[in-house]
Amino acid sequence: MHHFHYRDNELYCEDVPIQKIAAEVGTPFYLYSHATLKRHFIIFNEAFEGIDRLVCYSAKANTNLALLKLFANLGGGLDIVSGGELYRGLKAGFSPDRIVYSGVGKRVDEIDYALNTDIMMFNVESLEELAVINQRAGLLAKQAPVAIRVNPDVDSGTHPYISTGLEKNKFGIDTKTAIEGYKVASRLENIDVVGIDCHIGSQITEAKPFEDALKSLERLITELKALGIEIRYLDMGGGLGITYDEESPPHPREYARAIIDSLKGLDLQLILEPGRVIVGNAGTLITRVLYRKAGPDKEFVITDAGMNDLMRPSLYKAFHAIQPVVKTAHTSIKADVVGPICESGDFLALDREIPDVKQGDLLAVMSAGAYGFTMSSNYCSRLRVPEVMAKDDRFYVVRARQTYEDLVAGETIPPFLID
Ligand code: LLP
Repeated sequence: MHHFHYRDNELYCEDVPIQKIAAEVGTPFYLYSHATLKRHFIIFNEAFEGIDRLVCYSAKANTNLALLKLFANLGGGLDIVSGGELYRGLKAGFSPDRIVYSGVGKRVDEIDYALNTDIMMFNVESLEELAVINQRAGLLAKQAPVAIRVNPDVDSGTHPYISTGLEKNKFGIDTKTAIEGYKVASRLENIDVVGIDCHIGSQITEAKPFEDALKSLERLITELKALGIEIRYLDMGGGLGITYDEESPPHPREYARAIIDSLKGLDLQLILEPGRVIVGNAGTLITRVLYRKAGPDKEFVITDAGMNDLMRPSLYKAFHAIQPVVKTAHTSIKADVVGPICESGDFLALDREIPDVKQGDLLAVMSAGAYGFTMSSNYCSRLRVPEVMAKDDRFYVVRARQTYEDLVAGETIPPFLID
């Protein structure tokens, strides 16, 4: 469910005609619906009604300050994976005691930053990381609250690049070693063992892998109890999928039911780290057709957005629906929708049936709110595109288009090259 819809053949975001935004902002740009973002967060949070829980929105999906501020205002917490995300989260007004920090490769400066900020919890992914956190906490005269991220070895059935819960993946600590980890952690002077954590992958379209992971965590929690190690938080990570094409992932209520049913009897606060399910379908990438070209065996639609703006099709062969902003064509074509970048891997869609669009037409690349802008780059010295948020009948540029000066900011030519 989202707030992008046609009125008289013209695509609107909430009550704003997208054509109007394109005329003022130029293309390409990301466009988010405030109503959709808010609705998704509330539905997800309310699905766990009656349960002691904290929904920590996973910043990596979309870190724009306006979105972060919205989720902070709605009472959310934040899941971060870097010092940069911590900085953004604090700037957006998240209370540090609602921030959880995941990731296999936390640097010392990032650990210090999080310790000094007094975040809620570090999700620790290796015994070496645990030792470093303990040492830094000692130096900074802090107690570090930690959970161990357990790798429950379940198959989430998703794309191999975004599956994280198998033993062959780099994430977390296998269940056997995790017990050792907890024993070590409970003896470390500057570590406060507070939780257990897992995250088994992303774009998961069934409830079963989550149930399996939870069962595995429950066995560990029982073992920990027997060892006299009591925890407060159970962090189930993120991963709930969305509909890009024909997937039918569980509704947040079904997902919540599966988790809640397995939770019975555990007196723990539940933490969830949803990213995609909150923001994915709340965003689109708006792009303009630059040229049409017919090759000997293919029709090409060349757009002004490319793989540097939206990397998911190139990187994962991900499907994003493509819709005309104004429906004018009565016939359709089969075409590759490609960007301006000098690689054959630069495409938004391959062999796709789309309306017979013309030079200058606007296209909406749907479901681009998650891992769209955050994975964009300046490849080929292309400027990062603006982000716009629509609310009711108004729109707000929440990130300006980069300028050529921005592009070279921070670069210097050493004196020996200047004569
Ligand atoms: N928690 C942790 C520890 C994570 O690593 C992730 C995502 C999440 C939560 C949020 O997962 P979500 O609810 O969004 O599925 N770039 C890829 C997705 C990578 C996901 C990485 N981790 C894509 O475009 O599909």
